[in-house]
Amino acid sequence: MKATLSFNKNNIVDKIDRRIYGSFIEHLGRAVYNGIYEPTHPTADDMGFRSDVIELTKELNVPVVRYPGGNFVSGYNWEDGIGDKSKRPKKLDLAWFSVETNQVGIDEFQEWAKRVNTEVMMAVNLGTRGPDEARNLIEYCNAKTDTYYANLRRANGFEKPFGIKLWCLGNEMDGWWQICHKTAEEYGRIATETAKVLKWIDPSIELVACGSSASNMPTFGEWERTVLDHTYDYVDYVSLHCYYGNNDNDTANYLARAEDMDRFIKITADICDEIKAKKNSDKTVNLSFDEWNVWYRTKDEEKTRERWETAPHLLEEHYNFEDALLVGCMLISLQNHCDRVKIGCLAQLINVIAPIMTENNGVAWKQTIYYPYMLASLFGNGTTLKSSVKCPSYKSNEGWDIPYLYSSVIHTDSDEIIVFCVNRSLDGDMELDVDMSGFDGYKLYEHTELYSDNLDEKNTKDSESVKPSKREIADKILLKKHSWNMLKFKK
Ligand code: AHR
Repeated sequence: MKATLSFNKNNIVDKIDRRIYGSFIEHLGRAVYNGIYEPTHPTADDMGFRSDVIELTKELNVPVVRYPGGNFVSGYNWEDGIGDKSKRPKKLDLAWFSVETNQVGIDEFQEWAKRVNTEVMMAVNLGTRGPDEARNLIEYCNAKTDTYYANLRRANGFEKPFGIKLWCLGNEMDGWWQICHKTAEEYGRIATETAKVLKWIDPSIELVACGSSASNMPTFGEWERTVLDHTYDYVDYVSLHCYYGNNDNDTANYLARAEDMDRFIKITADICDEIKAKKNSDKTVNLSFDEWNVWYRTKDEEKTRERWETAPHLLEEHYNFEDALLVGCMLISLQNHCDRVKIGCLAQLINVIAPIMTENNGVAWKQTIYYPYMLASLFGNGTTLKSSVKCPSYKSNEGWDIPYLYSSVIHTDSDEIIVFCVNRSLDGDMELDVDMSGFDGYKLYEHTELYSDNLDEKNTKDSESVKPSKREIADKILLKKHSWNMLKFKK
């Protein structure tokens, strides 16, 4: 099969905001406890953080990590997780039917974030709580004043404010499963009032309002309209979440989910602009895709498992090669929509639907999805160019036309061209012709490929069979059947 990818130097989408390569850590399963934090582990540092996990996280170059939830945040009392560890209460977590020990809280997490060179994206509880607790939390984290919560932070050993710049107004408040789920009206009101007090305390912050938990939520569209009608003047972003899975063992249709993500982004951005027009506003509200990933094998496990354990094995999706292909496609979707998507969080980072796995008291290892995420984060920086693809296509189950080639083109600040592309054909290699206008004399100098003959191939703690390799540069660019590729061109 032949494909042509065309682009032009002057035809740009936008500069990529590096925060699209963010991630997420929730108090859920073994993400925090026995994930980032395991004081008895042989690699534990002075604060009980696993150094092996810190190293693997640093390799990913994650710009921002959302915390502490997720569904967990809607029942969380942040004050439980500060101060003397021996006095912190153990509590029932109703989001994941687990026991939360509170041995890690915001003090420890912001310290871990520093150690992995990332920023915290903080979510506040708008389930069981509201503006009062949120304003106290931001005073604790960001205030320089001689006032109660800022002084409490100092008393806990942190003279300097944490300076957290990005705040989420609750989590998935449109979902029936959320602790204290709300209607769009109820949420729109509480989000607005919370936004006001947070920005009064720290005007330098940016705020994310909850959009829909999935594109197939029955309220999708109306939820955004109502919430934005209330919050438009006070927030900077609206969130999107999506998780896909190959539930029907139909890989072609599974790889076409990237088009669903494209569509979800486009519709949400259009709704933001509809409200902008309605309000005759000069301000643009952008998108925070703050939960996205593959998640389906472990979706129903909470129905059968034991309740009220601490750090249970939960949502430990074991990713295979085709999952890495879809994750690669989802990153391409974020890159191609960088004019509207300014934040993205791969959900999640450690153990829970995650690229990094740990064994209690044992090794840390990389899942298949680690690699497309790492390579996009390391090399997918610069300006996305508008590109067009000519190649054969197939039909998704919705009847959409799905071109076999799915790609993004990035012009880096060091004047290189990076193409990320997936050949979605399950049985045919692809010969790729690149037609680049305005880049005379540019040549392909590196071709990195992620490929396995077996779509179900997985990495384990003992063997890493799915990992990138370099292809030899030849006259023609060949993209193997069902492969993810990164092509680098320079003059
Ligand atoms: O990431 C796992 C869960 O998925 C989060 O807690 C929630 O926000 C979403 O439903």
